[in-house]
Amino acid sequence: MSHRLLEGKKGIVLGVANKRSIAWAIAKAAHEAGAALAFTFQGEKLKEKVEDLLKGLPAPCPLYPCDVTSDEDLALVAESLRKDLGTIDFLVHSVAFADRADLEGSFLNTSRKGYHLAQDVSSYSLTALARMAAPLMPSGGSIITLTYLGSERAVKNYNVMGVAKAALESSVRYLAVDLGPRQIRVNALSAGPINTLAARGISGFTEILDVVAQRSPLQRNVEVEEVAHAAIFLLSPLSSGITGEVLYVDAGYHIVGI
Ligand SMILES: NC(=O)c1ccc[n+]([C@@H]2O[C@H](COP(=O)([O-])OP(=O)(O)OC[C@H]3O[C@@H](n4cnc5c(N)ncnc54)[C@H](O)[C@@H]3O)[C@@H](O)[C@H]2O)c1
Repeated sequence: MSHRLLEGKKGIVLGVANKRSIAWAIAKAAHEAGAALAFTFQGEKLKEKVEDLLKGLPAPCPLYPCDVTSDEDLALVAESLRKDLGTIDFLVHSVAFADRADLEGSFLNTSRKGYHLAQDVSSYSLTALARMAAPLMPSGGSIITLTYLGSERAVKNYNVMGVAKAALESSVRYLAVDLGPRQIRVNALSAGPINTLAARGISGFTEILDVVAQRSPLQRNVEVEEVAHAAIFLLSPLSSGITGEVLYVDAGYHIVGI
């Protein structure tokens, strides 16, 4: 990307697990657009992987441990951000999780525990993070999250995650109203299927890729860079009039009927 749309901006990216992560594509594009970045990782197992990836960026970036289900972790991230970056202009929430057993077969069988887990990690975390980040955005800002069409259509095997994404998209609208007076915008990107670690947890995921390639108006799947470019638009002043929105980056698949 040649435009320095985020020149002078500072932000935090949550959700990098490896080089295929949507969060990593967004981070690379944000860096190219001129942003200074901080990152989080979930659990010691991922720490080294994320550290290795960050070595590929020209400037050193702060990296904090953060399990989004832990209020203590979120408070520590806020404290560290204040110390390292002072204020921030944007937050990228690219985090989701559900038990594998709840991403296959019948939604009817979803357990109470599995339902709560998916909601806590994949939906409530956006609200908790927005509350943590807002005081760090005194001049306004942009918060984005990643969602999927399974929030509004019953997509085979997406099950409990579809319900969590519906709650996430609704949270985007309520947060947009609450944070609008502070000029903090909150939007979601609804990405088409992309082969990542999280996606591979969904039973029959390759079938979803095939269907989109056959039926979407663009007759292909989206590239992760296309999602990242839309993210830069939502993070940048180019989208200053947009909040509470769900923007589809899915080769047009969601508009197709028969
Ligand atoms: N890949 C797709 O097809 C697709 C499509 C639409 C939306 N999305 C969404 O994009 C986002 C990113 O997923 P991805 O596809 O890049 O996969 P990914 O596996 O690379 O990223 C998921 C991230 O969530 C993090 N995470 C899970 N539980 C966490 C917790 N308790 N605390 C902190 N972090 C936690 C993981 O560490 C990982 O970094 C998710 O919200 C996903 O639902 C993905």
